[in-house]
Amino acid sequence: MTSGHGSSSRRLFLERLWFVVALCSLAHGKSTSGPSHPGLPVRAVSLGGWLVTEGWILPSLFDGIPNKDLMDGSSLQFRSLAWNANLTAERGGGAAVVAVPDSQLNGSYATFKVWRIDETTFNFRVFNQQFISVWRNGAVLATAATPGPAETFQIVRNAGDKNRVRIRAPNGRFLQVKRDHSVTADHGESTSWGDDDPSVFAMTNVGDMHGEFQICNGYGTGKAAAVLRNHWNTFIVEEDFEFIASNGLNAVRIPVGWWIASDPNPPAPYVGGSLDALDKAFKWAEKYKLGVIIDLHAAPGSQNGYEHSASRDGSQEWGTTDASIALTVQVIDFLASRYAASPSLLAMGLMNEPMAPGVTLDSLVRYYRAGYAAVRRHTPRAYVVMSSRLAGGSDELLRFAGIGGLPGAVIDVHYYVFNSSFTNLTAQQNIDFIKTNYAADLRGLTRQNGPLSFVGEWVAVWNVPNATKAEYQRLAQVQMEVYGQATFGWAYWTLKNVNNYWSLEWMIKNGYISLKH
Ligand SMILES: *[C@@H]1O[C@H](CO)[C@@H](O)[C@H](O)[C@H]1NC(C)=O
Ligand SMILES: *[C@@H]1O[C@H](CO)[C@@H](O)[C@H](O)[C@H]1NC(C)=O
Ligand SMILES: *[C@@H]1O[C@H](CO)[C@@H](O)[C@H](O)[C@H]1NC(C)=O
Ligand SMILES: *[C@@H]1O[C@H](CO)[C@@H](O)[C@H](O)[C@H]1NC(C)=O
Ligand SMILES: *[C@@H]1O[C@H](CO)[C@@H](O)[C@H](O)[C@H]1NC(C)=O
Repeated sequence: MTSGHGSSSRRLFLERLWFVVALCSLAHGKSTSGPSHPGLPVRAVSLGGWLVTEGWILPSLFDGIPNKDLMDGSSLQFRSLAWNANLTAERGGGAAVVAVPDSQLNGSYATFKVWRIDETTFNFRVFNQQFISVWRNGAVLATAATPGPAETFQIVRNAGDKNRVRIRAPNGRFLQVKRDHSVTADHGESTSWGDDDPSVFAMTNVGDMHGEFQICNGYGTGKAAAVLRNHWNTFIVEEDFEFIASNGLNAVRIPVGWWIASDPNPPAPYVGGSLDALDKAFKWAEKYKLGVIIDLHAAPGSQNGYEHSASRDGSQEWGTTDASIALTVQVIDFLASRYAASPSLLAMGLMNEPMAPGVTLDSLVRYYRAGYAAVRRHTPRAYVVMSSRLAGGSDELLRFAGIGGLPGAVIDVHYYVFNSSFTNLTAQQNIDFIKTNYAADLRGLTRQNGPLSFVGEWVAVWNVPNATKAEYQRLAQVQMEVYGQATFGWAYWTLKNVNNYWSLEWMIKNGYISLKH
């Protein structure tokens, strides 16, 4: 146990005796009737890609989806070969859809996000978030706030070249580009599929999403239920908990999505059953004396626009209404109530990686205050993990969570070394960055009388090309040393992954990482 944690415990003692008794028994692992996990500091691994889908962790999950290159959130571009001009929402939306030649093209305005209705039927969302509609006179405009029948198109693919397409409008006619570069929905059925046909487009997909929304809506609820149940039953099993416990780890961090709270009948397209899987995880954690950190990874509306927060199309809407905050507090209340009695409930993570500035600090703090209270209604002892905002300061929550009032609060930061600013760094430069910059950042978070600190995600992955095994071992070792200073502890991202270095299981089995002493 670190001195940082000790001093915060002393402060808590003055504040709430009942709480500190629980906290100390956690920290020392001596409780008889209390928790059955070893307490702090946490050496955890995330069970990523299990109850919240992330396609890159296990791409084969998507294999059975027809037209799986046209998923919710796919970013499509369409080029009229007849006019060498791309479909574009004028001003990014709120006006007509036109065709624009290369010299005047704005790529953002010429990219359309897909909402999938079925494997051939879609809505198209433009840069400013409107949907494309066809009007009675055949005009094509990007002005609809929500999609309905007038916003529903079919993509008809050429049999020989699936990226040569025509777009059938809701009036049954096809979109075409006219000589003046206007776009209308008035071309008939017949086509030669030639470059000179103004209703033929070359389609390019410049970005796909593979999250929970995509897999559920891609298969459709019935088929998705079977695919995901099989995944939940096979991707993580009891032997994994045995492996984790016998390799020097003491907790698991389990990402969940907001829909788990309405199991077994979550709103479409989500499917029920992830709650059963979480129940099983708690049973296994109790058996192998592991702590569980529940991590709300996907909040309603998406808190960061990533597929891992179940965003439909890259947009981030969480926190823009009070209703989304209230709904999220209900999810936390539900989870805290369900697992408060488990001796393995170590912590409740209120929200993973909210993104600034879309999520304002004000709405985040209001939510954290209410979420913290919801956890405390059910348990005095579970820690409450609060993630700082991506693109916000890692210390931005200190004022809120720091001064009294929130015993057991934990600030969560994620330390990675592979974004573009690490591109040309040598192995040693990466190591130095961790030992200097991340170590200083962590020290800044770890204040007397402050909340605990948690490096809730890290991984031994970097941009160093062809690094040796010894270099990877050193990367892992240095991170464990530096992040070992966090007063709450750390969690590796993730246990299983088709990309070996991202899989702690693979790293341990192949001798890259060892936690046994
Ligand atoms: C092009 O799109 C970007 C948004 O990505 C916008 O900020 C910019 O103003 C646009 N440029 C023009 C010339 O309209
Ligand atoms: C225009 O569309 C084509 C075909 O879809 C695409 O490859 C190209 O990148 C687009 N150009 C811009 C600037 O968006
Ligand atoms: C990359 O990560 C570092 C360290 O977290 C951060 O300081 C930097 O702003 C990031 N750069 C980009 C381009 O996101
Ligand atoms: C990395 O180095 C290459 C070659 O020197 C250079 O072209 C590139 O711009 C650098 N990238 C970054 C992100 O610094
Ligand atoms: C890494 O290895 C690949 C082949 O394994 C090779 O093509 C490449 O040049 C190597 N890169 C560096 C930077 O050594």
